[in-house]
Amino acid sequence: MDLGFQELFSSVKRSEPMDIEGVPLHRPTAENWGLLRAFAARPGDLLISTYPKAGTTWIQEIVDMIQQGGDPQKCARAPTHKRIPFIDLFPPKPMTSGLEDAEVMPSPRTLKTHLPVQLLPLSFWEHNCKIIYMARNVKDNAVSYFHFHRMNQGLPEPGNWDQFLEHFLAGKVSWGSWFDHVRGWWEAKDRHPILYLFYEDIKEDPAREIRKVAQFLGIELTEPVLTQIVQHTTFDSMKANPMANYSSIPSALMDQAVSPFMRKGAVGNWKEHFTVAQSERLDEICAEKLEDSGLTFRTQL
Ligand code: A3P
Repeated sequence: MDLGFQELFSSVKRSEPMDIEGVPLHRPTAENWGLLRAFAARPGDLLISTYPKAGTTWIQEIVDMIQQGGDPQKCARAPTHKRIPFIDLFPPKPMTSGLEDAEVMPSPRTLKTHLPVQLLPLSFWEHNCKIIYMARNVKDNAVSYFHFHRMNQGLPEPGNWDQFLEHFLAGKVSWGSWFDHVRGWWEAKDRHPILYLFYEDIKEDPAREIRKVAQFLGIELTEPVLTQIVQHTTFDSMKANPMANYSSIPSALMDQAVSPFMRKGAVGNWKEHFTVAQSERLDEICAEKLEDSGLTFRTQL
């Protein structure tokens, strides 16, 4: 990355989220809310929806590999955010917004959002677009979001782990409450074509879950192609893949020396951060917030 390009990003400022309809959103997203709300989804669009740090990049790579017939060369055509535009993203210039990238993309498009279900642009519902939702257990999700706040220079300073956890549990982080997000999308799946996946399930048996995704997309996979997709989307392989590891983003925006984007990629890493008291308290909150939803998570395999 040459220095001139880096300097263009020196204006990046850590900013506090801003409420939209009671949900704190990343400030640039909130500032462009009118544009995002009016986004024109097209028939045939596929949407990948997640709470931040649930494994979005992982499912994006899996979906792209399925769509490209398991050809890693085709998936190396551009970095993740260019292959699958993130419609909530309004980065500093000279980067283009996710909306701009989506608008110039031919159909059929695959797009990404972190929006809670009630804020999704209505055009996705109007066109009955297929949606893949990926959820991750709250403990690992919170730890991953903490480290992402440390390295992402556009998010607020997280403070120490204890401080961040309080903030996270109060739902005051960008894109709002994890509980509302996973539960809202879970309930929506009974009314719309939504495939609801779990990070822990993919970790446990990637081939089984990749087959599920292919079936949802109506794409047949041969065994060799399935094997190729499994190998290409392991944590180690994606960590080494410049088209999937966000190394193309300037360090003024994402400082991977502070914490790599591909950090641990594990189920249960939360145990290195949580005290026993924090863990027990979160179990109680989780039971209360997800009560009667039928939604359950595994925090270890
Ligand atoms: P950790 O911080 O726990 O390592 P997102 O893409 O939604 O921002 O999520 C990033 C998280 O998903 C990070 O979690 C990252 O390491 C993990 N991840 C990315 N690719 C993965 C893969 N192939 N296997 C397992 N975890 C992966």
